[in-house]
Amino acid sequence: MSAPILVTGGTGTLGRLVTPLLREAGHSVRVLSRRGGRSGPGVEHVTADLVSGDGVDSAVHGTETVLHLAGGPKGDDQATRNLVRAAQRAGVRHLVYISVIGADRVPLAWLRSKLDAERTIAGSGLPWTALRAAQFHDLVLAVAEKMAKLPVVPAPGGLRFQPVDARDVAGRLVDLALGEPAGQVPDLAGPRVYEMDELIRGYLRAVGKRRLLLQVRLPGKVGRAYRAGANLTLDGATGSRTWEAFLAERLPRRDPQCATAR
Ligand SMILES: NC(=O)c1ccc[n+]([C@@H]2O[C@H](COP(=O)([O-])OP(=O)(O)OC[C@H]3O[C@@H](n4cnc5c(N)ncnc54)[C@H](OP(=O)(O)O)[C@@H]3O)[C@@H](O)[C@H]2O)c1
Repeated sequence: MSAPILVTGGTGTLGRLVTPLLREAGHSVRVLSRRGGRSGPGVEHVTADLVSGDGVDSAVHGTETVLHLAGGPKGDDQATRNLVRAAQRAGVRHLVYISVIGADRVPLAWLRSKLDAERTIAGSGLPWTALRAAQFHDLVLAVAEKMAKLPVVPAPGGLRFQPVDARDVAGRLVDLALGEPAGQVPDLAGPRVYEMDELIRGYLRAVGKRRLLLQVRLPGKVGRAYRAGANLTLDGATGSRTWEAFLAERLPRRDPQCATAR
C-alpha cells in the first residue's frame, strides 16, 4: 500500500477541504493536529504539537508527501522548523507549504513568521513547493461579523484585499502536492480587488444590516505597506469564486428591500 499523505492542520478551514480531495484522488491521509479528530476509512487522525515538537516524529514517520497547512497567530516559524527536522529524519520526498501573499512585504509579526517558515523549507534540502494565498473568504467573513456587532464600523481607508475561496486554494494545493516539487509557485488570489469598506458593505447587504461606516487611517509602517498594495498580487493566479458568490452561498437569504447599508 502507498504511504499516507500527511496533512498538518487537516482539521482547520483549509485542511478540511484538502483531505476529501486527496481521498477522491485515491490517497490515504494522515491528519496532524493538537486536538485530533475521528479517524474513518482512509483517514487517520494523529495528535502532535508542532510548536513544542511533541509527537511530530511519529506523525511524520512513514510518509513521503507532507502538506503543511497548520498555522496560527504565533509560532509558525518554530512549528515549521520542528516539522522540517522530522521530515528530514523520515526522508520525506515532497513538502508543500501554504503561506500568505505579502509575507515578504508587510511588516507584521505573523507574516514575518510565515516568511521565516518559507525560508526554512527552501533551505531544508527537502524537495518542496510553496504557495502564497490571499485571505480566505472565511476569514473576511469572521472579521466582518465581528465588526458588524459595533454600532459604527471602522473601515481603514486605502486598504485593498483580494479574498480567495478556500476551496480554490485547496484544489490548487492538492494539484501541487500530487505533482513534482516546484519551489515557489505563482500566488493565488481571488478574482477581484476590493476596498475594505466594499467587503464590509457586501456583508451588511447580504445579512440585511445597516451600519455607519467610519473611515479610519491605519497608522505606521503596516498602514503604509497595505496602502501601497503589498498584500496584493496583480499578476498571480486567480481563484474562481467571488466574495459575493461566497456570501450568497454561506448566508441565509434576506429580503433585498432591507439589504442596503448606509
Ligand atoms: N485563513 C486565511 O485567510 C489564510 C490565508 C492564506 C494562508 N493561510 C494559511 O493557511 C493555513 C491554514 O489556515 P486556516 O485558516 O485553515 O487555519 P485554521 O482554520 O486556524 O486551522 C489551523 C489548523 O492548524 C492546527 N494547528 C494549529 N496550531 C498547531 C500546532 N501547534 N500543532 C499542530 N497543529 C496545529 C489546528 O488544529 P488544532 O488547533 O487542533 O491544533 C488546525 O487544524 C495557515 O498556515 C495559514 O497561515 C491562511
